[in-house]
Amino acid sequence: MSSMLITEAGEGLFHARLNRPEAHNALNTALLQALSEAFARADDDPSIRVILISGTGEHFAAGADINEIADKTEAEGADDVRKTYWRQLQSVRKPVIAAVEGYCLGGGCELALSADLCVAADDASFGQPEIRLGLIPGAGGLQRLADRLGKARAMRLALLGERISGATAYDWGLVSHRADRGEAVTTARSLAEKLVKAAPLAVEASKAAVLKATEDRLNDGLDWERRAFERLLSSQDKIEGITAFREKRRPTFTGQ
Ligand code: CAA
Repeated sequence: MSSMLITEAGEGLFHARLNRPEAHNALNTALLQALSEAFARADDDPSIRVILISGTGEHFAAGADINEIADKTEAEGADDVRKTYWRQLQSVRKPVIAAVEGYCLGGGCELALSADLCVAADDASFGQPEIRLGLIPGAGGLQRLADRLGKARAMRLALLGERISGATAYDWGLVSHRADRGEAVTTARSLAEKLVKAAPLAVEASKAAVLKATEDRLNDGLDWERRAFERLLSSQDKIEGITAFREKRRPTFTGQ
């Protein structure tokens, strides 16, 4: 069986590729663990200057693995080791670049939004569709969307579950760079080459400074959003939402 995470390192760059193409690279716990451990190793490795994340196949990632969420309760969500993995992924000191092709949804979008630079293919598809499952994002997606897009646009994605193209994500300031379809990784690699040559201490300090201005003030909201996600795990609506997804039909929600 091939690895869920393919990694390669060389010339200052660490490249991790999500590799579950049969499930649109859905981030199950094993993959999230492998990714957070790989990021931690790269962060501690003095020969690495930049981390790049992308997907194999046609897509970046279609979210957390819905099959794992199906039976998870509020108590299990509160205790979930995934929180530790997300925290590790989001606290890397070195610059992280995401290269996005295809679907970039749910937890996949949260992963891309956590990167420092994000190159989106014009026809990529970004969104937080959790509302359709009777859920909200679990790793800060709505905090970061609201912070970057403002209320009006964030509400479109949060309440209506709208998806936006990579070109729109760039126009709206959600991602830092755009690329033609199929060119996201190539573009991201050329950005990485620049960062590899830049002064490492100044790069780390620049990243930390920007995050102080943008991420630190989100902390209360991130905790609040996580708790709200955990409460929804035990709702009937979540069960209906996930059952409907699996049965490929529209859900009927009751507010319970
Ligand atoms: N988890 C598990 N499996 C997934 C998945 C996911 N997030 N997304 C897709 N898959 C699987 C599908 O079940 C399907 O498997 P089978 O072939 O065994 O049926 C396979 O990947 C291909 O998917 P589709 O047949 O649905 O492909 P499509 O091209 O018709 O649709 C899609 C693509 C619009 C992305 C659709 O798959 C979809 O809506 N996926 C779910 C997106 C989503 O809701 N993401 C949020 C998850 S919750 C989350 O991320 C919150 C959190 O942080 C905890």
